[in-house]
Amino acid sequence: MKKFQTLIVLVFITTIQLHAQDAKMNSFIKNLISKMTLDEKIGQLNLPGSGDIVTGQASSSDIGKKIQEGKVGGLFNIKSVAKIRAVQKVAIEQSRLKIPLIFGMDVIHGYETVFPIPLGLSCSWDMQEIEKSARVAATEASADGICWTFSPMVDISRDPRWGRVSEGNGEDAYLGSQIAKAMIKGYQGDYSNNTNIMSCVKHYALYGAAEAGRDYNTTDMSRVKMFNEYLPPYKAAVDAGVGSVMASFNEVDGIPATANKFLMTDVLRTQWGFKGFVVTDYTGIPEMIEHGLGDLQNVSALALKAGVDMDMVGEGFLTTIKKSLQEGKVTQAQIDEACKLILEAKYKLGLFENPYKYCDEKRAATEIFTDANRKTARQIAADCFVLLKNQNNILPLKKSGTIALVGPLADNKENMPGTWSVAANFSKSISVLQGLQDVVGNSAKIIYAKGSNLDGDSLFEQRAGMFGKSFNRDNRDENEIIKDALNAASQADVIVAALGESAEMTGESSSRTDLGIPKVQENLLKALLKTGKPVVLVLFTGRPLTIKWESDNVPAILNVWFGGSEAGHSIADVLFGDVNPSGKLSTTWPQNVGQIPLYYNHKNTGRPLGDGQWFQKFRSNYLDVSNDPVYPFGFGLSYTNFSYSDLKLSSNSLKGNQTLTASVTLTNNGSFDGKEVVQLYIRDLVGSITRPVKELKGFQKIFLKAGESKTVSFNITTEDLKFYNSNLIYDWEAGDFVIMVGGNSRDVKSAKVNWMK
Ligand code: BGC
Repeated sequence: MKKFQTLIVLVFITTIQLHAQDAKMNSFIKNLISKMTLDEKIGQLNLPGSGDIVTGQASSSDIGKKIQEGKVGGLFNIKSVAKIRAVQKVAIEQSRLKIPLIFGMDVIHGYETVFPIPLGLSCSWDMQEIEKSARVAATEASADGICWTFSPMVDISRDPRWGRVSEGNGEDAYLGSQIAKAMIKGYQGDYSNNTNIMSCVKHYALYGAAEAGRDYNTTDMSRVKMFNEYLPPYKAAVDAGVGSVMASFNEVDGIPATANKFLMTDVLRTQWGFKGFVVTDYTGIPEMIEHGLGDLQNVSALALKAGVDMDMVGEGFLTTIKKSLQEGKVTQAQIDEACKLILEAKYKLGLFENPYKYCDEKRAATEIFTDANRKTARQIAADCFVLLKNQNNILPLKKSGTIALVGPLADNKENMPGTWSVAANFSKSISVLQGLQDVVGNSAKIIYAKGSNLDGDSLFEQRAGMFGKSFNRDNRDENEIIKDALNAASQADVIVAALGESAEMTGESSSRTDLGIPKVQENLLKALLKTGKPVVLVLFTGRPLTIKWESDNVPAILNVWFGGSEAGHSIADVLFGDVNPSGKLSTTWPQNVGQIPLYYNHKNTGRPLGDGQWFQKFRSNYLDVSNDPVYPFGFGLSYTNFSYSDLKLSSNSLKGNQTLTASVTLTNNGSFDGKEVVQLYIRDLVGSITRPVKELKGFQKIFLKAGESKTVSFNITTEDLKFYNSNLIYDWEAGDFVIMVGGNSRDVKSAKVNWMK
């Protein structure tokens, strides 16, 4: 009782303190705005790129001049604390009102210490590790002057043709929402010190639903689908207190997100209570001219009126909003509101108190790319890899004998960090070859041969080269190159083939229509399999690939995504069993491109295919391929075996706000200690709208020693049963539900429950 009273008092005091802080901020900002000219207010809404800034001459650059005139609110993607300090100095010493700038960057999966690509991170299903990765990223970025990151990207996507699946958390809204919360906590903390940076959730909204997986393409979906399946992670970010939101490039309901009042005001602010500011994506405003919404003045006015506050690169606000005000197309209140929200963000970051809060050269020298951070990256990456196949327990490998390491990704550093590693120094990342050598030392012999180029006609190599991720193309005939690999293989006990995509085959503007491993690499793989020696495929990718043939024919497959700075070490840790893999897929892997979109939480349809069936006439299926994926959502093997038994429900019939407990016995039957992601799914059997065949509603990552058993329990409440109905009302409906628990979305134990109002 006493404890409870103390808690109430504490909550009361904290609430009063927060109110006092808010009041202080409000009066500070109000006072500042009262001193600002219209041009200065509009200037705050302008976010140019880093432009032509040179450290020693910041004020004489074009951007420097604009800063002096109060025409810039912030800058992004400038690297180095010295440069940022120099630019901030121009704002503080040479602009009339000395308003500090905000400095953003795409710190997406780490800063100089790079973690696995977000799709990889999501496969750890470990929220503490994901939060930690964001914390490390924020600490390093803030040590280098950055106070704002354009992350997390939470776009749900069910289309792996879209290259940006690599930047998101997969296909599931529940998992994506948990990750959004963890990342924001890791970045922002409580803004109390200079390692906390502001987060920007993106790309609001539905960017991952681009038609045919072609980047920047049109999206269109029902509101019911939008609210139930695509919007939850953005909302979770808002609930977690995200400081800013980035508008997406695509249209929603026929209106580009950047001018979409329904999204930016009605949903984001009115329904969800978002208090921060909205920034466009890169040139999002002028792109609306191409969308067909009018000239720059018109589209800029539309964006402001919709609830967009800051214009990234487009300069539509800077050059046209004043005219629109004079012509009555926007109001003074709309300009003031946008300006206020941006100033508030700067206030929350503490920039008015100390504009150089994030410019600490000592921190920059000691807190970036540290041994400790690299160690964290190494551990986390190993937990993101997904063991897809391990026939006859080929893995883990022995640290003895001879290993042939082949493939275009085996001795390559530049591609290890993956797409969107803006701040990374590629030459410092660890290749697979180096990782293996470091881990086995002299106890095993490693013979390396490239064995093939990345691709036959060098299309992907050229595109990789655009971002400094070279492949040193071997211009010999394909068969000559393979011969080197076969020669290495002939001397080896086991073959490790590092194959797949290059980093830039996914990410922005990297959509593909063929999701296979490039042909020359597949030819290499086939030649290696013909030797009869055991082959381990170490698969690099930023998306689900169509690897049905590989899955049927290669004995062991370890999917390593792009693991970051320490990729090579982490890969070696897992290959040699120092770490037991525990990653689980956050996406479904289709058999072929024709099955896309293929996702676990689909609807049943009126003509579902019978369980375990392939073709049935007049049922929902294909003539030429089954409905099954190669690997289902949630799937991932371990070096040990986990079994599930004894699913128990605390009751089979519930009423109102009661809590249901579902428990299962998890046993580690194998000979390795290991971690297993226990997943809870629910199916709502009857609804006022059709409901998915199952939906993820909980998960726990459990460590068990070899031979150990544990009861794993989930508490389920009516919150877990809620969905948006056709009137977009969020509630649950009474009836029967199937509760499922298992190690992936396909292999589950199930039990039924009735839940009445
Ligand atoms: C991307 C964003 C990114 C921005 C700034 C855009 O092209 O879509 O994700 O944050 O550029 O670099």
